[in-house]
Amino acid sequence: MASDKDLDSPDRRDFLGKVTTAVGAVGVAGACVPFISSMNPSKDVTSKSTSLVDLASIPKGKTHTIEWQGKPVFVTHRSDETIADMQDVSTEIDPQADADRIQKPEWLVVVGLCTHLGCVPNRNEEGWICPCHGSIYDNSGRVVRGPAPSNLIVPHYEFVDEKTIIVGKKV
Ligand code: FES
Repeated sequence: MASDKDLDSPDRRDFLGKVTTAVGAVGVAGACVPFISSMNPSKDVTSKSTSLVDLASIPKGKTHTIEWQGKPVFVTHRSDETIADMQDVSTEIDPQADADRIQKPEWLVVVGLCTHLGCVPNRNEEGWICPCHGSIYDNSGRVVRGPAPSNLIVPHYEFVDEKTIIVGKKV
């Protein structure tokens, strides 16, 4: 049986102090986990942060509109003629080479919102025309007539394989 002297010994007090500190640290860490987890995006958000696009379903010359994070994204399968037409075009409002806007020449991927006030442009053979104030974009999504101040935005996207892209960044 421990004597009163043993109970008051410095070794015992050190030991109890360390145990108390360790238990407290574990408690604080445990309390932080739900708090830190709450800062992660919800499953609902992460599931919509990317969109998979089956390119095989888009015939040459056609554009499919997919939804990504609540926005329309135009995925266009460009013909050889369109690809050639876009090479030497220079645009004055927001100059950018076609090559800087694509990953593979036959695929153009742009956010389908006019950079003026956010209307959804309509597709035609030359590119897109905005129904709100008449901005025109070419088949590279570059603005060729305002009032839009800049080209259609190219979102982050990656080729998963030859016939599939994933739009957006994985969270
Ligand atoms: S919103 Fe497209 S031109 Fe104004």
